[in-house]
Amino acid sequence: MIYMDNAATTMHKPQAVIDAVAAAMGSMGNAGRGANEASLSASRVIYDTRDKLCRFFGAEDARRIVFTNNSTESLNIAIKGLLNSGDHVITTMLEHNSVLRPLYEMEKQGVKLTIIKSDGKGMFDLRDMEKAILPETKMIICTNGSNLTGNYIDIEKVGELAHNRGLLFVVDASQTAGVFPIDVQRMHVDVLCFTGHKGLLGPQGIGGMYVREGLAIRPLKSGGSGVQTYSKTHPAEMPTALEAGTLNGHGIAGLGAAIDYLNEVGIDTVREKEQRLMRKFYDGVKEIPGVKLYGDFDTFNRCAIVTLNIGDYDSSEVSDELLTEYGISTRPGGHCAPLMHEALGTVEQGAVRFSFSHYNTDEEVDTAISAIRELAQD
Ligand code: ALA
Repeated sequence: MIYMDNAATTMHKPQAVIDAVAAAMGSMGNAGRGANEASLSASRVIYDTRDKLCRFFGAEDARRIVFTNNSTESLNIAIKGLLNSGDHVITTMLEHNSVLRPLYEMEKQGVKLTIIKSDGKGMFDLRDMEKAILPETKMIICTNGSNLTGNYIDIEKVGELAHNRGLLFVVDASQTAGVFPIDVQRMHVDVLCFTGHKGLLGPQGIGGMYVREGLAIRPLKSGGSGVQTYSKTHPAEMPTALEAGTLNGHGIAGLGAAIDYLNEVGIDTVREKEQRLMRKFYDGVKEIPGVKLYGDFDTFNRCAIVTLNIGDYDSSEVSDELLTEYGISTRPGGHCAPLMHEALGTVEQGAVRFSFSHYNTDEEVDTAISAIRELAQD
């Protein structure tokens, strides 16, 4: 199979990640729940990975890194734990349902929501965001890269706006963590939400968040913490405050190995390869009659995503043919990004998303270009 659905999850993982998960599964106890060697070794792996993520994202302290299951959980914690009735929050049409649905829930609880419009290429204007700020605005939350179009958002500029106006800035880095450099302090990020299983090349079921020093988030969960057992309340100290229950130690071991791999290979090398393959595919299909492409390809920085349709063909049919006739995996349909599809006019048809990893090859991209050329001729 030619795997081109890396925006959903990277399927090919570094061997070191697979080895680290297997080793952890054969040796790991429950961190913070015992003084036996298995428990201590789990604590060490978890501490090491936290520390690696802290350095990777330029955080001030490893205690500001919290482990969660994925970006969705991190975003739920940030949105539901920071917003209160009467607050105003600004987001964009580029967002995934993991941002939109928690925001819609908060709307029902008295939070006022403004969604900044996207243009036909899937970009929004920062000036519209500035104009939307109200006296009661508490937060700007937006993606660092659209999972549908691959458009890259310069979060440093958005963060500057947020902090100049005294607002919290929450970032969904699902599509960019592990591929684009993220420095939370320089980029004025208060909360960074990421998942381990995409660009970070780790296992599924492990993700996390960075929470800026001094910012307290109301936890979604309380329960076992391994400390302060006789207190009726969950500990307020970070990161335990947001980490009730046994952590996914096996996933954390894999994520730690993935960070080592990325540091060794270099995220610039990874990104340059992905982007080269993405541009090659784009150049190969853009002139094919009947092919319609979505997104802004004029910017230098973009995620390694090319989304398209062929004539009026349903995107699921095209994606099925790509798989059955050519062995190419893509993602059709709505991609959990309803407002982005609205902006692009693709709600009915959906769209076929090709998303690349540095493990893809030039030959695979050539095959994908030929496949689109043939399907467009049918
Ligand atoms: N959010 C993931 C995607 O874009 C699953 O496919």
